[in-house]
Amino acid sequence: MSFEIHKKRREKLLEILEKCEAVAIIASAFEVKRNHDVDYPFRQDSSFHYLTGFDEPDSILVLNPFEQKRETLFLRERDPKMELWTGRRLGVDKACEKLSMDQSFKIELFEEKLSSLTSGASKWSYDLASDFTLSSKHKLCDFIQSKINTSRNRSMKLGSVAVSGSLEIKELLSGMRAFKDDSELASLQQAQVVTNMAHRAAMAYSAPGVGEHQLLALMESVYHFHQDCGTAYNSIVAGGENALILHYVDNNCQLSEGDLLLIDSGAESSYYAADITRTFPVNGVFTPAQKRIYEIVLEAQKKSCEHIRPGLLRADFHTVACEVLVQGLIDLKILKGSVSENMDTGEFKKYYPHGTGHLLGLDVHDIVHGLHFEKGMVTTNEPGLYLPADDENVPAEFRGIGIRIEDNYILTDDGHENLSVSIPKEIEEVENACRDDFRKFLPYITDPR
Ligand code: GLY
Ligand code: MN
Ligand code: MN
Repeated sequence: MSFEIHKKRREKLLEILEKCEAVAIIASAFEVKRNHDVDYPFRQDSSFHYLTGFDEPDSILVLNPFEQKRETLFLRERDPKMELWTGRRLGVDKACEKLSMDQSFKIELFEEKLSSLTSGASKWSYDLASDFTLSSKHKLCDFIQSKINTSRNRSMKLGSVAVSGSLEIKELLSGMRAFKDDSELASLQQAQVVTNMAHRAAMAYSAPGVGEHQLLALMESVYHFHQDCGTAYNSIVAGGENALILHYVDNNCQLSEGDLLLIDSGAESSYYAADITRTFPVNGVFTPAQKRIYEIVLEAQKKSCEHIRPGLLRADFHTVACEVLVQGLIDLKILKGSVSENMDTGEFKKYYPHGTGHLLGLDVHDIVHGLHFEKGMVTTNEPGLYLPADDENVPAEFRGIGIRIEDNYILTDDGHENLSVSIPKEIEEVENACRDDFRKFLPYITDPR
């Protein structure tokens, strides 16, 4: 792996820091204990990964544009005993050469070195995972946080430097992370390829009596079978009324004849996420009532897509989606009055309680940047309708239906490109996909002998 791209990103951030008269302190993610000697799966902090490509825990990057040695990495020392149990470490000696840093120190020296490393700057910009602890011995979070809190409240002396304020590193980085370069786009596209296979496999495998957990296993096996690939977030595999729980992750019910199945699941490829939702009939054929709701949601997505264009406010595409959904609810006699009256009262939020999209990238809900769409950004578009089973304003045939359709788009010069265009979405396409042979989408599962 080349770390050139991460070096370039650090250089760009250093330019920004210089203008702001700030230093940056960016901590890695840390290991979280599940029990005894078992940790939760480790995933590097996105900003730390973006700037270093270095995927070990217990590390801190300090960037100071006012020092000769501008890039400093603190990391774990080599430790043959620990490496026997938990894997290889890069170590302090190799870090500079491998990661193109100016200097590196063992993490235990962070506290001691910090004052000298932050000289020349009047502001600290930082990103520390909340309750960051390097180990039970090194509670550096407390240390940094106490300094930052003090500096927020009043000018403080840190070594020879007066620290007069702090900046959110996310704000400084958002103008970089929001715009995807070619290597990032390649990862995003690979995530879509793998996600397409998984959703198609799930559509083809789905049938009454199948467990939500089985579809989860099927989809996530597709993700994990691919190199540098995994699950971007906890998958939602929600049959029937479970779809009305927006972040349903129990995934432990059996699918029933006549129900819809909502699947919100995406792969993460080389750290970049896909975030895709499809809703389809468990038995492969939409009922007329399901079709009606599906068509409204699809129309909301198509109309709001017209507003995914550089220069337009991101808030506007949400408004457009809401207007289409509200019109649909009025047509179904679920809401009374006009579209504008309902937009004012917000009554519709009972049936559409979430936003229409968010930026996408290293994080599934990615770093926010500005209010407008701009070329190079990636966004989701994910309208839905959720009609409670016990809502007497909803005609009986529509009760308990939950539908969301979510795609991912990259902003181009004058519009957008749908990155997830290959994943079936039109009613006929979806019904055809449900009739497919699921083995077609698992072509890599061949006899290894
Ligand atoms: N998968 C979470 C979301 O769609 O925002
Ligand atoms: Mn989303
Ligand atoms: Mn989603």
